[in-house]
Amino acid sequence: MSTSFDHPEYNYKVVRQFAIMTVVWGVVGMAMGVFIAAQLAWPQLNFDTPWLSFGRLRPLHTNAVIFAFGGCALFATSYYIVQRTGRTRLFSDTLASFTFWGWQAVIVGAAITLPLGITSAKEYAELEWPLDILVTLVWVAYVVNFLGTVAIRKESHIYVANWFFAAFMIMIAILYVGNNLVVPVSLTKAYSIWPGTIDAMIQWWWGHNAVGFFLTAGFLGMMYYFVPKQAGRPVYSYRLSIVHFWALISIYVWAGAHHLHYSALPDWAQTSGMIMSLILLAPSWGGMINGMMTLSGAWHKLRTDPILRFLVVSLSFYGMSTFEGPMMSIKTVNALSHNTDWTIGHVHSGALGWVAMVSIGALYHLIPIMYGRKAGQMYSIGLINLHFWLATIGTVLYIASMWVNGIMQGLMWRAVNEDGTLTYSFVESVEASHWGYVVRAIGGALFLTGMLIMLFNVYMTTREANKQAGMVAAQA
Ligand code: HEM
Ligand code: HEM
Repeated sequence: MSTSFDHPEYNYKVVRQFAIMTVVWGVVGMAMGVFIAAQLAWPQLNFDTPWLSFGRLRPLHTNAVIFAFGGCALFATSYYIVQRTGRTRLFSDTLASFTFWGWQAVIVGAAITLPLGITSAKEYAELEWPLDILVTLVWVAYVVNFLGTVAIRKESHIYVANWFFAAFMIMIAILYVGNNLVVPVSLTKAYSIWPGTIDAMIQWWWGHNAVGFFLTAGFLGMMYYFVPKQAGRPVYSYRLSIVHFWALISIYVWAGAHHLHYSALPDWAQTSGMIMSLILLAPSWGGMINGMMTLSGAWHKLRTDPILRFLVVSLSFYGMSTFEGPMMSIKTVNALSHNTDWTIGHVHSGALGWVAMVSIGALYHLIPIMYGRKAGQMYSIGLINLHFWLATIGTVLYIASMWVNGIMQGLMWRAVNEDGTLTYSFVESVEASHWGYVVRAIGGALFLTGMLIMLFNVYMTTREANKQAGMVAAQA
């Protein structure tokens, strides 16, 4: 990674490092996604090998896409935005560098331990305690560096994107530590301090807020900066963005119990999780509408600007998944959707449609700037357009096939004969799901192809920029 593009005022090095690794980890994590998707369609791909089996690679996929791909995207954009909107350099270059290398070490640690079967077995919190300690150290350095930068800003106002980033960092710190409080019994094994149902509740308090703060609040910060920038328009309503912020963060934290419907959790707790989830529709859509309306007067740009298309389509998927989520939190709906592929479809309409697309749009805007070019000036705009269509079609194939599978599974599992026996065996529902899995794997492969094209486009952009920088240096 060349340093010839270092900015005199800002620390762009760390932004560049995280931005490039976002693309790399995106390719790795999604390749893993396509592989496990193929395993569900063709189980022979497990090769009877423990470390290649679906059970071990699935958490590797979720960790790679959420924490490696999503995490690097959040580090890159938050470090960029906090400097630009505060008109100041990062609080500490040393801490920035520590967060970059520390985070990569965590990712490599996950890539080694998870296939070996070393796991806490808690979803989105699978890493064993030594890695948790490293995550905590990196995270504290991140929070100190980010808030430190806000503190030394030269602009009196704190732009709303930074509020979202700050909330995301602080909540993740609290919940990650809370959920991972354990008693170690060896270097690779520990037991939670939380007993039984309380453990489940704390786990989903974390799990849901990994969605609410990691996969939502942070990416909303990204949205509030890059949508106006790319559209060349101010945020539609700044006041709405503030209402959006406070409403979203104060409601999200109480909705996690919708993951535990019909479980041993007290009924009142399940119902309050459901009510909070239904209320959550309002701030979510407030944010989505605010983002969309920012394009007022700039809609025509969508015809020629594929980066803006990524950002706008991501907002549509955000709207869609935050409508679907509250519906799925209704207990009677959840009785049908829970444990089926409907949940997986919902997850990926958020994950691919919202999280990945908004990150991709932001990176196409950002990466050229990191290499001394104008915003969005990538090596090939045509390839961005191709990427856009592959990503959109891939996402639609993914989620549509999972809706069909999910509703079919739910209906098959609950179908009973007149004498009260089950109409279908579980295996019959698995058989019936086969074609949905094939379509999902194709959708995933299209999305992955788009990411590979992005990797090529980024490589060519950096190569051209390096060449130009070399020529300028030679002339000087
Ligand atoms: C090429 C793209 C992708 C493909 C093909 C893919 C495929 C898969 C598959 C097959 C599963 C397991 C489903 C099951 O257990 O039945 C899964 C789970 C999951 N994936 Fe992906 N994925 C992709 C991208 C992403 C991205 C970008 C994210 C997040 C930003 C993501 C987040 C998740 C999560 C959170 C789960 C666990 C869902 C749950 O437990 O309900 N995936 N993915
Ligand atoms: C208003 C917003 C949302 C609400 C109320 C909501 C609600 C829900 C509900 C009810 C479930 C099913 C729980 C179950 O049956 O086990 C679920 C699962 C999930 N949702 Fe959402 N959702 C929302 C937005 C999102 C977004 C934007 C994303 C991604 C970026 C997302 C990611 C997930 C994931 C990863 C799971 C699966 C968790 C697991 O079982 O592993 N959700 N959500």
